Amino acid sequence: MIIKEAKFLMSNTMVEACPTPDKPEYAFIGRSNVGKSSLINMLTQQKGLAKTSGQPGKTQLINHFLINNEWYLVDLPGYGYAKVSKSSREDWRRMINFYMQKRENLTCVFVLIDSRHEPLQVDLDFINHLGTMGVPFVLVFTKLDKQSALKTDSTIAAYQRKLGENWDELPQMFRTSAEKGMGRDEVLNFIEEVNSQVKNQEK
Ligand code: GTP
Ligand code: MG
Repeated sequence: MIIKEAKFLMSNTMVEACPTPDKPEYAFIGRSNVGKSSLINMLTQQKGLAKTSGQPGKTQLINHFLINNEWYLVDLPGYGYAKVSKSSREDWRRMINFYMQKRENLTCVFVLIDSRHEPLQVDLDFINHLGTMGVPFVLVFTKLDKQSALKTDSTIAAYQRKLGENWDELPQMFRTSAEKGMGRDEVLNFIEEVNSQVKNQEK
């Protein structure tokens, strides 16, 4: 897919205030600092489109971007940041659950996972939660440039093992580096493919 146009639309805390749900929507989620905003900038090839930061907790709202006037890309705030208060964590949980259950055009959630770490319980819990809610999702391993391919393989194999304990079918998995542009074609081709499936269903 060629990205002809990518623009920021709006930030929200409420599903009701999000853009009209008339286009397929892809949401990026994952632990704080995993690289969600960086991946959005890499995919759209617009460096400052989504705000990034070395400090976890940069993205606080539901941020909508419109791509090629055809689909929405959503940058969500991260989970699992230790310094967040209990009440903020609860606010996050409520906002995200509401968004995922009520956003009718939500087509697929991209769960980003730092490829440097062995499976973390927060990530496994979140993935299992998505599965239980029946939300379609894929996994995106990030920051591949930070380590050897062998280490990435071992992280991915560990996730396959862990998720295999609970689920018969494993989600699709992507390997990316926002720094090196790795995985860009794979992720965009996937979105293009799903967009065309959505179009066919509408016919
Ligand atoms: P929150 O909005 O706080 O939840 O974080 P986020 O998931 O949006 O992460 P963000 O994109 O802001 O990136 C966090 C840090 O990781 C930044 O310092 C990025 O430069 C860095 N980073 C993100 N992706 C990559 C990558 O692929 N490779 C490397 N080396 N660094 C990355
Ligand atoms: Mg962010």
